[in-house]
Amino acid sequence: MRRKLVVGNWKMHGSRAANAGLLAAIVGARPYGAEVAVCVPCVFLGDTAAQLAGSEVQWGAQDVSAHAQGAYTGEVSAAMLAEYACRFALVGHSERRQYHAESDELVAAKAQAALAQGITPIVCVGETLGQRDAGLTEAVVARQLAAVAQALGARLADIVLAYEPVWAIGTGRTATPAQAQSVHAALRMQLQTAGDAAARVRVLYGGSVKADNAAELLAMPDIDGALVGGASLKAAEFIAICRAAG
Ligand code: PGA
Repeated sequence: MRRKLVVGNWKMHGSRAANAGLLAAIVGARPYGAEVAVCVPCVFLGDTAAQLAGSEVQWGAQDVSAHAQGAYTGEVSAAMLAEYACRFALVGHSERRQYHAESDELVAAKAQAALAQGITPIVCVGETLGQRDAGLTEAVVARQLAAVAQALGARLADIVLAYEPVWAIGTGRTATPAQAQSVHAALRMQLQTAGDAAARVRVLYGGSVKADNAAELLAMPDIDGALVGGASLKAAEFIAICRAAG
């Protein structure tokens, strides 16, 4: 059985003081039935690791370099993240694909770099509104996942996948449980091509997940958790989502 996973994506929000309060609230609300993690800006990883160590709440980064080391100003390598005991790294978030022109191949290389350091990549896929309206949703997410599958081979089973329709991110407009389930089922079918990946890989839903819609989304058979942006910055909302997951 896949254990449900709820991941907060803080994006470029937070401060050392605000983070300490938020993390204390999340830790204070344990135990959770689901696995819980927060993906924080890199500069906060040291504080986060110190505060969460031994708490069962895990942490990760929002991106990782595809390169192991070298002259890549501004980038952070997977080995550096591993020094802070990151359990996860988001890769291919739509904001990275859109604002930083990340290609499917680059996202796949980042997933590979994370795995090589024992960090689980959370590979994000999702279609824009224009692509959905043109009937291209499944083709787009299939193409995005295929690049990762090709790069990882059997190690595809070691990733977490997140379906995040771009039109639902930060808009307050959530995919209906049925819309999300249908894409998750298609992704699960595609995972079958790599060993036991279909059974093992957790497929999270992301895009305006809130306390009041989490339970119905998480009740879908192929939705194994949530990737939460805005609502992960509010302790009560995030804790309620974590509880809805188990
Ligand atoms: P949102 O963001 O929950 O604010 O829509 C989700 C995400 O971008 O991961």
